[in-house]
Amino acid sequence: MKRPAKPAKRPAPPRAAQRLGRAGRPAPGGAGARAYQPKRDARRSRAGARANQWLAIAPDVRLAPGVKLSKFINLYGCSIGGNTKIGAFVEVQKNAAIGANCKISSHTFVCEGVTIEDGVFVGHGVVFINDTYPRAVNPGGELQTEADWKVEKTIVKAGASIGSGATILANVTIGEQAIVGAGSVVTRDVPPRAIVAGNPAKLLRYLDPARDAAGTAR
Ligand SMILES: CC(C)(COP(=O)(O)OP(=O)(O)OC[C@H]1O[C@@H](n2cnc3c(N)ncnc32)[C@H](O)[C@@H]1OP(=O)(O)O)[C@@H](O)C(=O)NCCC(=O)NCCS
Repeated sequence: MKRPAKPAKRPAPPRAAQRLGRAGRPAPGGAGARAYQPKRDARRSRAGARANQWLAIAPDVRLAPGVKLSKFINLYGCSIGGNTKIGAFVEVQKNAAIGANCKISSHTFVCEGVTIEDGVFVGHGVVFINDTYPRAVNPGGELQTEADWKVEKTIVKAGASIGSGATILANVTIGEQAIVGAGSVVTRDVPPRAIVAGNPAKLLRYLDPARDAAGTAR
């Protein structure tokens, strides 16, 4: 009797897929092994947010219930409040805090020392800064460590909005309900309910209840 033909050999998966192992999970000990481990970390996070293999979330991250995460997000040592939505390619560093009901759009960088209160909108590609005079090396010529510099803090108060592509320099407070225009460079405090724009960002006007419906600009 004729034997059934052997199934054709499958082509080797691309290198990245090999590293992830079966079902897209990081292979034990492989290059992806330190990446996010879906089941274990989902149990650890308070939110139990739906996790997947494209997230890098350190075990020390505090996620409140209802947090929604897109793919390709890097979170470590930070806290995210309830129902907050975080877009793709966002990084939030240690000792940064994001409140509840915020929207953090894709490609934004929230560095150490930044506090974002509740109900804040952060547009795409917003960059926060925490070191005004950065250096790679110390006076001895060695790579700087945390002992060589001090984090400069920034606060974004409740209900504020930051337009896409804005850069927020260190040591500033953005007031409640304030709006930062797209592409602005914020160099100093923004008063509550102010609309600022430009580089350096200047006051355009204050929110006007007659002109601006329910806290929105129009
Ligand atoms: C600043 C902003 C809120 C408009 O505020 P506004 O008070 O209604 O301002 P106006 O549109 O009346 O413009 C007033 C002046 O500011 C200028 N301006 C408006 N937005 C600006 C910006 N982002 N950067 C620089 N100048 C800006 C206008 O050109 C105008 O200048 P002029 O008086 O010389 O003509 C809006 O332009 C903006 O940038 N919103 C952010 C949108 C965003 O990033 N969304 C993210 C999700 S997609």
